[in-house]
Amino acid sequence: MRARFIAFIISLFVAVVPAFATGQAEQTQDVVHVYSHRHYETDDALYARFEELTGIEVQVVQAGEDELIQRLKAEGPNTPADVLITVDAGRLYRASREGLLQPVDSPTIESLLPAHLRASNNEWFGLTIRSRIIAYHRDRADRSILTTYEALAGDAFADNVAIRSSSSIYNVSLLASIIEHDGVDAAREWAAGMTESFARPPQGNDRDQLRAVAAGEADYAVVNTYYLGRMLTSSDPADVEVAEQIGVFFPNQPGVSGSDGRGAHINVSGAGVTRYSDNPEGAVRLIEFLLSDEAQAAFAQANYEYPVRDGIELAPEVAAWGDFKADTLPLEVLGQNARQATMIFDEVGWR
Ligand SMILES: [Fe+2]
Repeated sequence: MRARFIAFIISLFVAVVPAFATGQAEQTQDVVHVYSHRHYETDDALYARFEELTGIEVQVVQAGEDELIQRLKAEGPNTPADVLITVDAGRLYRASREGLLQPVDSPTIESLLPAHLRASNNEWFGLTIRSRIIAYHRDRADRSILTTYEALAGDAFADNVAIRSSSSIYNVSLLASIIEHDGVDAAREWAAGMTESFARPPQGNDRDQLRAVAAGEADYAVVNTYYLGRMLTSSDPADVEVAEQIGVFFPNQPGVSGSDGRGAHINVSGAGVTRYSDNPEGAVRLIEFLLSDEAQAAFAQANYEYPVRDGIELAPEVAAWGDFKADTLPLEVLGQNARQATMIFDEVGWR
């Protein structure tokens, strides 16, 4: 009781003293403006919690991934944004290359976040992990022939893999990782071989690839894990019916014959402080908070993704897919190899 009373008195001081000191509490209240592609209630709850902990208000603008970057570019020094939150290391890398972000010096972030999940120039940081996996039909597919991404380009998978178009940054990043691990020539051969494995001309998003598997158009698909989590828990019974027919295979695991054991390809959604932020301190505090135990657990539950830190509880649907080894390639390499990946897609006719 007494401790609670003291806490109450302290909270009064925290709230009131700055107001006395400045005489204009409203105007001086700290605000961090976030440009985010994410649109989850969980995120709003996290921002409210951050405000409660720090007194820093969070204001969010939501838009599509590429639109956010276009907007930052167009606004230049006049942007209200302090933090950019977007998906795919390839896109974060591009934002950094285009001078839209600024380096951050935070020992907290450095201690929480493994080096391969952030930019070496400290301009962006992973917040959640997704893996690009092989989905298969639980009854029709032959799970025993699944080994690696590389193997999908072989005869055993001819006309039997659903995968979206090469304009998807998810596929650009996957090929960028194969360029790094296998070399350019092998990567080109792989991409060419994959076009022979297509069950149909690339079309639709990742969910549509799962629907194609359920509908019998293909026995295998390449998708990001969280789409399956979303469909499993969808309010649309048709989505649930699709998702329940799908199994998850993590490619390139150690101990699998024909596998180099490098681990399944992963990517992140991530954040950076904008180049022209007028509140970089607040922005860094928000990113630090988003890497805390509390925020990481909430993020993982909200979008069926993997936390960037160990020891955080997964959503039950995600935990059910089992443990896997993730590729530890520094994610900025995906951005570095993106151009080459796009050229290869064009060369081999992967639309
Ligand atoms: Fe996505």
